Amino acid sequence: MNNAKIVIHGKQKLCGSVRISGAKNAALPELAASLLTADEVHFQSVPQVEDVKVMFHVLENLGAQGIFNADAVTIQVPTLKSAEIPNELGKTSRASILILGPLVARNGYAKVSRPGGCAIGDRKIDFHLQGLREMGVTIRETADHIIANADNGLQAIDYTFPNKTVTGAENLLMAAALAQGQTILRNCALEPEVGDLVDLLTAMGSHIHGKNTETLTITGQNRLNGARHTLIPDRIEMGTYVIAASLRGNNEVMIENAIPEYIDSLLSVLTEIGIEVSTWDDKITVRTRGPLCPVEVETLPYPGYPTDLQAQLTTLLTQADGVSKIKENIFNNRFQHAVELNKLGASIQVDRDVAFIKGKTPLSGRTIRATDLRASAALVLAGLMAEGQTVVENAYQLLRGYEDMPGKLRQLGANITLIHE
Ligand code: EPU
Repeated sequence: MNNAKIVIHGKQKLCGSVRISGAKNAALPELAASLLTADEVHFQSVPQVEDVKVMFHVLENLGAQGIFNADAVTIQVPTLKSAEIPNELGKTSRASILILGPLVARNGYAKVSRPGGCAIGDRKIDFHLQGLREMGVTIRETADHIIANADNGLQAIDYTFPNKTVTGAENLLMAAALAQGQTILRNCALEPEVGDLVDLLTAMGSHIHGKNTETLTITGQNRLNGARHTLIPDRIEMGTYVIAASLRGNNEVMIENAIPEYIDSLLSVLTEIGIEVSTWDDKITVRTRGPLCPVEVETLPYPGYPTDLQAQLTTLLTQADGVSKIKENIFNNRFQHAVELNKLGASIQVDRDVAFIKGKTPLSGRTIRATDLRASAALVLAGLMAEGQTVVENAYQLLRGYEDMPGKLRQLGANITLIHE
């Protein structure tokens, strides 16, 4: 799997429709939330991507009995067989940090591997740990592990996140669901995946007020029950296909199972660039017409422009007439795709957290390497536009977070193949 690569022959017209899968970043915390109950939790619309499979495997190691059948997952943790995540599993996906809150809340003890360095920059977890400590959890950090003890259960807190953090809000929300008393979490991240976790926890018997606002009030329960839950569509996959559809003149693509509101920030940037986008309740159509205008964009927490769609937009802007500027505010090393795009003929200069993209440059295919998940999508998009053959190495990165992207793009008319070596 780690040797997988993607081979693309560019310049094909994209046309037809593509269906968006359930959200990876909703699946990860929500599968972890199944630790909060001994009853069965049933999920629909779970994307079959590597990060989700790793999370499922981590839960199985802790004692979960589960079935992963197409996009449906049934999971039940009647008793815990272990409260420790083996290092090799924990290191495979950073999302195993999402186990910490629910596991210590359920069990009074958890040992998870410390999320290591990350290709996109520093990814701190100090607010997760600070919040749990205030709930009465004793936390010991070693070079490799985080060890959490709460012999007397968790206590409610009134905690203000110093800055927005998506998984931080999710971790404390899950812990608070089994804490004694009423917890108030302030300055919470507004990403729709946090709201979807609130919906799941509510179905499990939690009392939570303030969904989709910065202040969440959670009345802790002694026990939670099982539930059935359908995940929201993946807004980053949605945005990636909208950008793919925008890449060349005369594409005509319809994106189905979409929630256009989730990517308002992207759609307004595309309108500024000169792309024709139309939205319905659950569909988006994209038509490309005429020249593309350069833009200035900065990444921000939701509802601002998402960092997870920064790399893909960079690829599109190589085709705008003039210099575009993108400022990355969320992660401090998230322009690694620029070096690879330049190998194809792009002209991108990175100065710390700002990329200047000089268009319009023709791209020509060659072998390039994916450094992280969203960068891999940006390179695939570049391959769709490039003259000749592009090979994207380290394609495992793409498989971590996009369900069957080569298959979905083929269905739209692209010439793209995934090769496992
Ligand atoms: N931060 C802190 N302290 C903390 C937590 C975060 O300083 O305790 C900082 C981070 O260092 C970073 C910023 O806050 O600079 C934002 O980090 P956040 O915690 O919000 O990111 P995350 O929860 O680790 C999730 C997604 C990412 C997505 C970011 C931002 C999941 C599993 N991951 O990560 O998704 O980029 O939010 O929206 O939900 C991806 O899917 O490709 C991906 C990287």
